[in-house]
Amino acid sequence: MKYPLVGFPFSESDMLSGRKVLSTKKIITMSKITKDFEKKFAKYLGVKYALMVNSGSSANLLAFFALINPKFKKRLKPNSECIIPAICWSTSLWPIIQAGLKPRFVDVDLKTFNIDLDDLKKKLTNKTKAILAVHVLGNSTNMNELKKIIKKRKLVLIEDTCESLGSKYANKKLGSFGRFGTFSFFVSHQISAGEGGMIVCNDYEDYKIIHSLRAHGWDRGLNISKKNNFNFINSGFNLRPTDITAAIGLNQFKRLNKMINNRSTNRRKIIESIKNSKNWRNQIEFLDPTKKVTPSWFGLPILIHKKFLNRKQRFLNYLNNQGIETRPIISGNFLNQPVSKLYNLNKYKEKFKNADEIEKRGFFIGLHPNKIDQNSVKLLTKNLLMIDKL
Ligand SMILES: Cc1ncc(COP(=O)(O)O)c(C=O)c1O
Repeated sequence: MKYPLVGFPFSESDMLSGRKVLSTKKIITMSKITKDFEKKFAKYLGVKYALMVNSGSSANLLAFFALINPKFKKRLKPNSECIIPAICWSTSLWPIIQAGLKPRFVDVDLKTFNIDLDDLKKKLTNKTKAILAVHVLGNSTNMNELKKIIKKRKLVLIEDTCESLGSKYANKKLGSFGRFGTFSFFVSHQISAGEGGMIVCNDYEDYKIIHSLRAHGWDRGLNISKKNNFNFINSGFNLRPTDITAAIGLNQFKRLNKMINNRSTNRRKIIESIKNSKNWRNQIEFLDPTKKVTPSWFGLPILIHKKFLNRKQRFLNYLNNQGIETRPIISGNFLNQPVSKLYNLNKYKEKFKNADEIEKRGFFIGLHPNKIDQNSVKLLTKNLLMIDKL
């Protein structure tokens, strides 16, 4: 691939920091480095607590199992509804169902790719108890509006920020608005530790719940009991990271701002070059950030013009043959996925017009954390404008 979705994500110093953990010859499970990373992450995000886990999916799992935990203030009852946008990742959704809650799908906004607040308002009922906002590819919905809805209806907000680490809304970091915010450090995300994730919150009682749930349900590490290390205070999973992934993640985290700036510069260069090309005839559209959002881009989403809809697959094959890797906008409209029938996800047989449109017209290409060279800009400019020639 000449222009892959992601390059090799680790610098020499990332690899060295991982190797250093191994060379201590201690067990490699989470320890001091994980704690250090958690502290720095919480500070960066402007929240009180951050807890590292082995993936963004695990962070989502913790968030929803916290909401139904007996220790959660005003815990959610089984079958309570949680609003979720139709464009979401699989493990944005499954923890809702696994926790015994009911997902209520809402369409997305064509202009933001995020939850459509008008559709959301229509779908609020007495059963609605939570909202999962999925911040798509570095962008978000109007968080001021969303906050108003949450406050008025006394709902719990969870922010799946797995694709948006570092993005801000009105100067406040995404992931810090809700009861829990979740992040992923999988390859191609804003920082990559190979695997890994983080969950953040502001309430110490919430923190205690997710801390126990992360590792077996015990209180080890919480300094709340003088008993031995085998004191079980809650139910639990084992979603622990290792200090190796924490060390790699923390080392990359130091470069986060630089990588955000590089991605943003790359995006500007690519779009400028395309729009200044003599072949530019509005064949494609780009996603602009929502008002008040300072994005930390994940990829470069593209919508093809409606008149080329029947050529999309041919176009993607063509790009692939030219060495340009593409992928769908998250997983498209998740209700169109085969598993939707298996779990009868669309039980109200609703239409999600905008999510369908984004699925039909959309795809994204990588936005690399290192500065892009002129050859890549040329490659993309030439080939992304070829759709009307195919
Ligand atoms: C929106 C969203 N949520 C959750 C996840 C899951 O993260 P992980 O791959 O670290 O489990 C992803 C993964 O890409 C994602 O895009």
